[in-house]
Amino acid sequence: MKVLVVGAGGREHAIVRALARSPQRPELLCAPGNAGIAGDARALDVDAQDTQALVARALAEAVDLVVVGPEAPLVAGLVDACVAAGVPAFGPSAAAARLEGSKDFAKQAMIQAGVPTAAFATVSTLEEGMAAIERYPVVIKADGLAAGKGVVIAQDEREAHNALREILVEQRFGAQSVVVEEHLEGRELSLLALCDGERALPMASARDYKRIFEGDRGPNTGGMGSFSPVAGYDEEKVAELAAVVHQPIVDLMAARGTPFHGVLYAGLMLTEQGPKVLEFNVRFGDPETQAVLPRLRSDLLDALLACTRPGGLAGMRLQWRSECAVSVVLASAGYPSSSSSGDVISGLSDVPAEIEVTHAGTATRDGEVVTAGGRVLNVTALGADCESAREAAYAAARRISFRGMQMRRDIAATALEQATIPDR
Ligand code: AMP
Ligand code: GLY
Repeated sequence: MKVLVVGAGGREHAIVRALARSPQRPELLCAPGNAGIAGDARALDVDAQDTQALVARALAEAVDLVVVGPEAPLVAGLVDACVAAGVPAFGPSAAAARLEGSKDFAKQAMIQAGVPTAAFATVSTLEEGMAAIERYPVVIKADGLAAGKGVVIAQDEREAHNALREILVEQRFGAQSVVVEEHLEGRELSLLALCDGERALPMASARDYKRIFEGDRGPNTGGMGSFSPVAGYDEEKVAELAAVVHQPIVDLMAARGTPFHGVLYAGLMLTEQGPKVLEFNVRFGDPETQAVLPRLRSDLLDALLACTRPGGLAGMRLQWRSECAVSVVLASAGYPSSSSSGDVISGLSDVPAEIEVTHAGTATRDGEVVTAGGRVLNVTALGADCESAREAAYAAARRISFRGMQMRRDIAATALEQATIPDR
């Protein structure tokens, strides 16, 4: 079995590592990968955005499965192109990937499917946007892919005006419209579900830390750390959630003739009125995947293959380790507004073998591993409980250093995470 993983981040590295644990012992390829992934999979020098070249290489290599990590190639139709060429591929079609590619499409789908979400209006001018705001804070979302950075929580009129101007007038994200959304209060939960076009099979619960600074301050990032599972969200509870969040969307997409295959990620806010969906993503979460996959005992390869076949997940159950996983992101100077590259990373070989260090923005230069992006590494540890996983992850992270390294020290901090939200 030969598997090609498309992408170059920490998520893809975690997927490669989980596939390497498969008893089927697949031969692993990656495109383009990074300095760390290249140690675990044979790297192909093909850009994740180059659909034609990826399909050609998958055919030439006689790959049995292509696993697409990032959203952009999914939205651009990489899975459609693979399937048309006869190569099985894990991920949604471009039509189904609109659930992430357009915030408005996703909101309309949620309304139609009856999935709980925040009240919203979709607007295309600054004036309409300002008129749609009923109270502050308000959430302003660019309607398109923005790598997690197209969402602004505006505290007042001035901030809302600035955000709308940046998105609609200055065209910072190339979006034609904006979703103006009610601000929800609560704690967040990420719940990913594997989907085979008919059924949604939830994975383990996780929480992601979006803001750059401790105490959830500063701008949103792609994610600064994660842990799994979230207290109070065990297997039974996530099955209940998936039944009201993921399954109705899977049913809707099937009824529309654009069935959803792949992994459907719901970003949820656990509010006093119950869970509400903040966003859908059509791929594994980053950095949630780095905390979730090390806990998976079942064969990931089997599960991904099953998702490519209509109804393929029937009868499948996922087995999880009882341990908690904590994953800490090490980011480069300037992130998220910029990033720095080319700084030598030291200490990687001092990290104990049981710690999973997945690479995100790294490259090799003159035999050394150097930074090559905003999020650089993820350091993930398992522990009998969250606190011991957390201690092990931070102890390992402290062994690693590079110029300007940024790391949040409050990922999975006990006081914050142990209190559970009342169930409604
Ligand atoms: P999104 O890309 O839509 O998930 O938004 C990114 C982040 O912005 C979320 O993870 C939340 O932290 C925050 N956010 C998005 N929508 C809302 C909302 N309606 N209320 C409060 N926070 C939100
Ligand atoms: N962790 C947020 C995301 O993957 O979009």
